[in-house]
Amino acid sequence: QAHIRRGLLSSAAKSPRLLNPARLAPSLSHQSTAGMKVLAVLYAGGEAAKQEPRLLGTIENQLGLREWLEKQGHEYVVTEEKEGPDSAFQKHIVDAEVLITTPFHPGYLTHDLIQKAKNLKICITAGVGSDHVDLNAALGKGIEVLEVSGSNVVSVAEHVVMSILLLVRNFVPAHEMIERGDWQVSEVARAAYDLEGKVVGTIGAGRIGYRVLQRLLPFDCKELLYYDYNPLPEEAAKAVKVRRVEDLKEFVSQCDVVTVNCPLHEGTRGLVNAELLKHFKKGAWLVNTARGAICDKDAVAAALKSGQISGYSGDVWNVQPAPKDHPWRTMKNPLGGGNGMVPHYSGTTLDAQARYAVGTKSILENYLLNKPQEPHNVIVGKKGYETKAYGQR
Ligand code: NAI
Repeated sequence: QAHIRRGLLSSAAKSPRLLNPARLAPSLSHQSTAGMKVLAVLYAGGEAAKQEPRLLGTIENQLGLREWLEKQGHEYVVTEEKEGPDSAFQKHIVDAEVLITTPFHPGYLTHDLIQKAKNLKICITAGVGSDHVDLNAALGKGIEVLEVSGSNVVSVAEHVVMSILLLVRNFVPAHEMIERGDWQVSEVARAAYDLEGKVVGTIGAGRIGYRVLQRLLPFDCKELLYYDYNPLPEEAAKAVKVRRVEDLKEFVSQCDVVTVNCPLHEGTRGLVNAELLKHFKKGAWLVNTARGAICDKDAVAAALKSGQISGYSGDVWNVQPAPKDHPWRTMKNPLGGGNGMVPHYSGTTLDAQARYAVGTKSILENYLLNKPQEPHNVIVGKKGYETKAYGQR
């Protein structure tokens, strides 16, 4: 727990390790086998990535690693193709030693693929959230899984606060009205409230959840609550005036707004389902920027349609990219609003991309030089889970 909590109070954005590319610049006399294959699954950035080199997490800009890796004699394969046996991902995973993926365009490293990955030693998540890797299967094969902890937690926390506000204040329908050329204040004001005086609760009070609480403090909410099997240190809880509720049903029944900020693992898949939604306050708002599959897709769409919840907002989907007919794209509450969904981008602002590109390089550098990794970046180490955030084991 210590290493989970270490990052709570200081902003990751201020961490010199994550901000100082120069630290990583010196050319390396690596000790790993030359000719190692590094496979990266990134998303296609298209024209935007050509025009904006700071879009580092794309196949065009390749996390800025190509020259650095090739100079050392390594092969760097970068692809966006990730589905099906003929995809570049599934072909190259067979002999890759290092896999780099991003949660934004997840290369799903399943149990079967892990069995085929004969040379794979380390999976690096360029970002935060490694649920796209079958972590138990990786552990079984002695494959380490690391992520750039803290690299985008401020980015997400800001998005959460924005999402809460846009639901509570009924922003999206109000903006759509203006674009349509209409002006009927009552139509949007009938579902608009202040955040002040509401009860807001976070499922998961780790790096992101805690930063959300910090940012909500000045809004004078009636109460801030959290649900997490890892309790916050007393000082940290006091600093944001948050109260812990240990029973999930009791927790949601007290919240006007629920925000989901825990990882996706066996204990959180489908956590917010039809049964739990019945215990929500009627008309509550739900924000999920953690992982789509933590909330049951159909149960959420039904709860919004019926008005059991007034709004759902977030950027994460059970499958990414989300199919065109995914219900979360168009679902609405009975008043025709309550949908704040966007593509998965809250943790991939240009600021965040700079940090996770540097962090990815740092993890790779440690691997190549056989140096110890930063403990807080290790999800699965050689001997087991090194984080307490992926379920109680
Ligand atoms: P963290 O590891 O600092 O905190 C996670 C917290 O969730 C821990 O305190 C843990 O005890 C708690 N938790 C785990 N299982 C739980 C459960 N069953 N019930 C209640 N609490 C539980 O992780 P961090 O940095 O706060 O990130 C959280 C998640 O947010 C990531 O794992 C990732 O899935 C998601 N994320 C999303 C991004 C986006 O762009 N939308 C970007 C970054 C992270």
